[in-house]
Amino acid sequence: MEQLLRNFFLFLSKNKSFTKLAKKYGPRLGAARFVAGEDIKKAVEVIKDLNSKNLDVTIDYLGEFVDNEREANEMADNCLNAIEVIGKEKLHSQLSLKLTSMGLDISAAIVMKNMRRILKSAKTHNVFVTIDMEDFSRCQKTIDIFTELKSEYDNIGTVIQAYLFRTVKDIADLNQYNPNLRLVKGAYKESPQVAFPEKKDVDENFKKIIKMHLLNGNYTAVATHDDAIIEYTKQLVIEENISKDLFEFQMLYGIRPERQLELVNEGYKMRVYVPYGKDWYGYFMRRLAERPANVAFVLKGVLKK
Ligand code: FDA
Repeated sequence: MEQLLRNFFLFLSKNKSFTKLAKKYGPRLGAARFVAGEDIKKAVEVIKDLNSKNLDVTIDYLGEFVDNEREANEMADNCLNAIEVIGKEKLHSQLSLKLTSMGLDISAAIVMKNMRRILKSAKTHNVFVTIDMEDFSRCQKTIDIFTELKSEYDNIGTVIQAYLFRTVKDIADLNQYNPNLRLVKGAYKESPQVAFPEKKDVDENFKKIIKMHLLNGNYTAVATHDDAIIEYTKQLVIEENISKDLFEFQMLYGIRPERQLELVNEGYKMRVYVPYGKDWYGYFMRRLAERPANVAFVLKGVLKK
């Protein structure tokens, strides 16, 4: 049943007609638990609150699968605005973005032009930019764009997903760039040709790449809500004498907020991924797919209205 629900929400997350409808009707159905708001003003309030609790942030202007140049440029403009606001308000926040929202599916020229605009401004305002990893069909392109931009800018990182078979080789190949990587389990529906179907294999691979990347001496963001992975990382850094400056934990806004605070209070760097914007639909569906228990929460919210 859980697997069925998961597949159902992952299917909905990619459905373009539903995305258009969702854009039109705004955040309903309890999305507010996971999304900071529809505009930057709301996001700033949330970031200030998190920062006041010593939580760092990475902000994400929601949007994906953009299929025309005008929209891609608008998405990039929104990122530029977010960077300026982070600088002006002196927020402890980085920026996360998806290449499909910058024009990846339209042309290489458009996505590179938008990324360079963003990285240039981010450099000026001292903001680090992470390229989120999307589905497998875009993985190689994302890595290629990351490595090209990394040779021009040092304020850029990307994400590697533990569920993919290719991941251990990616971590090894990327080592030459000393990259700052966010390591995650992976949120998309992938075929068993390319990804581990069993959770236990994903978890083992996750631990493997955390160890590899940390022992390579590279900055590592361990992005998970899974206590077993968090405990593994804590143990590993003690055993290997790895400084707390070389890694951080990351979680999503609205998920396990009490655990986020516990980790900060234990002296770990903890960054919260704060999405905002009108295009909340695909993001919200992936959160429901990860944890169908969230559906009960959402239904309660809907019934109350
Ligand atoms: P998993 O979903 O296996 O959960 C493990 C355990 O965590 C659960 O059994 C439970 O104990 C606990 N838990 C989880 N959710 C909980 C909840 N709501 N309440 C209480 N306990 C809960 N993916 C991707 O493909 N590309 C990307 O770029 C990113 N970026 C990203 C950034 C950040 C900051 C995070 C945290 C995650 C991502 N992801 C991502 C998503 C990631 O791939 C993955 O889908 C989710 O993090 C869920 O996996 P977990 O590691 O949390 O474990």
